[in-house]
Amino acid sequence: AESLQQLILDHLDTHGSLSDSRNLTSAATDPDAQISILGALNSLLSREMIHYESHETLSHVLTPEGIQIALQGSHEARVWAALPTKGAGSPITPAVLKKTIGDEAAKVGQGRAFKNGWIAKDGDGLVKAVSSIEDTTQRELREVESTGTLFAGEKSLADLRKRKLAVQKRGQWFTVHKGPNFSTSIAKPETDLTVDMLTSCVCSFFPYLKPPDSPSYSGAWKSAQFKKYNFEAEGIYPNGGALHPLLKVREEMRNIFLEMGFAEMPTSSFVESGFWCFDALFVPQQHPARELQDTFYLSDPVKSLSPPRDYYERISRVHEHGGYGSVGYRAPWSDAESHKLLLRTHTTASSAHMLYKLAARCRGETPKDGEVYDVGVTPGRAECESSDGFRPAKLFSIDRVFRNETMDATHLAEFHQVEGVVADRGLTLADLIGFMRVFFKKMGIENIRFKPAYNPYTEPSLEIFAFHPMLNKWVEVGNSGMFRPEMLEPMGFPKDVHVHGWGISLERPTMIRYGINNIRTLVGHKVPIENVEKSPAVRF
Ligand code: PHE
Repeated sequence: AESLQQLILDHLDTHGSLSDSRNLTSAATDPDAQISILGALNSLLSREMIHYESHETLSHVLTPEGIQIALQGSHEARVWAALPTKGAGSPITPAVLKKTIGDEAAKVGQGRAFKNGWIAKDGDGLVKAVSSIEDTTQRELREVESTGTLFAGEKSLADLRKRKLAVQKRGQWFTVHKGPNFSTSIAKPETDLTVDMLTSCVCSFFPYLKPPDSPSYSGAWKSAQFKKYNFEAEGIYPNGGALHPLLKVREEMRNIFLEMGFAEMPTSSFVESGFWCFDALFVPQQHPARELQDTFYLSDPVKSLSPPRDYYERISRVHEHGGYGSVGYRAPWSDAESHKLLLRTHTTASSAHMLYKLAARCRGETPKDGEVYDVGVTPGRAECESSDGFRPAKLFSIDRVFRNETMDATHLAEFHQVEGVVADRGLTLADLIGFMRVFFKKMGIENIRFKPAYNPYTEPSLEIFAFHPMLNKWVEVGNSGMFRPEMLEPMGFPKDVHVHGWGISLERPTMIRYGINNIRTLVGHKVPIENVEKSPAVRF
């Protein structure tokens, strides 16, 4: 590339200008050579050593078949050449002809040779009908090969194109003139203004500051040639910072909640106590979900901090003896079970914390310094606060939960839940169903169904199914329900305040959306990194 630049500069130096870049070298007539010339010109242009104009050309090049014919002659000429003159030898049968010049040439060539009157039948065989021929096709192709066009003109060229022997090819050539910085020596331009170039002025006043033999302390900035910025450059593809598909889907869901007026719950505590993960939700202490094979427990520290005393007592009482219209579980209460530390099995533990905070005013508490009781309070609804202190709220979270699962194609020991609660007076199951329809519609899922289900903390409970057109079946997408009075009333909520909540998997819709059927292709060390880099953001 350097030598090509030098060649151009030398040419300009001797001739003043270069009127046609195709005359630069003997090889420059090749259209591909002009591409390298263009590179050299742009590089010189960026230093304003030259300027140039470009011109378009349309030339013809031979197809592989055209090249073969230019070399060996047209099929019809080869047929003619293979045959004896009438009377001079025994006629050749089509079968033998095929053997000598090949199937394709014999087949195509015979027809044309007959049409041209070059060959004739003689008994079962074929003979030459004329003593000499002119192979126009071969001559024309050779002409195209060396000049890129035909003297005979467009009609003959069109014929060659139709026979797929030649194709058109766009080309470029250039006229080049000297630029303001013209010189025959290519100085390597500076890419950066450096401290060294600038400090030279200090050195001229204080020469003793100049390190000995330092050519860079020379006032270089004054005479330096700086490389121009190329704002058209494509730039280097950043090979980092791609969002994982789960994060993209999380972002979409988050936006749906935010536009529906929800506030995000803090969910940074992966470790919870048995109290907040289960007891506060009226999950019996003997519930199978709390067993070792389902929940990861921590051995250190051995015990959680104690929940607020009064609340703790109300919860243990409703479990053991009932209350708020409930008969309770009537099983002995275990402090130890309640104080166990575990990896949260659902983000409903965070919902419990937030609802307990939301009910603080109803319990007659006033926020202490830095404490917020109003996260997620529906804007404009705080004014509706009545004497019981309740304020309606809408909250969501999307975060990780942990379960001691046997891992397979669709199960990992950790996954993400999309959790939410709505707290208001007099909410009904119809509000929950209505919310679900709106929420899923915003994700592009119009077809949803509900199935009665059981949760210890909700009554009624509904499983949510969405029809999946790609899989052509109904898939479970979430679980939901109206929180029980045994959970809400110990927190301090008035009886007419109802709260509905739900938990939706983040992985399942993501897998469906990206057509992933094994969760290990989505999460973990087997994730193909190009999936992460290339998978587009989706709108459900
Ligand atoms: N916690 C439930 C689960 O893990 C989801 C849920 C949340 C259900 C809130 C009802 C209410 O599946």
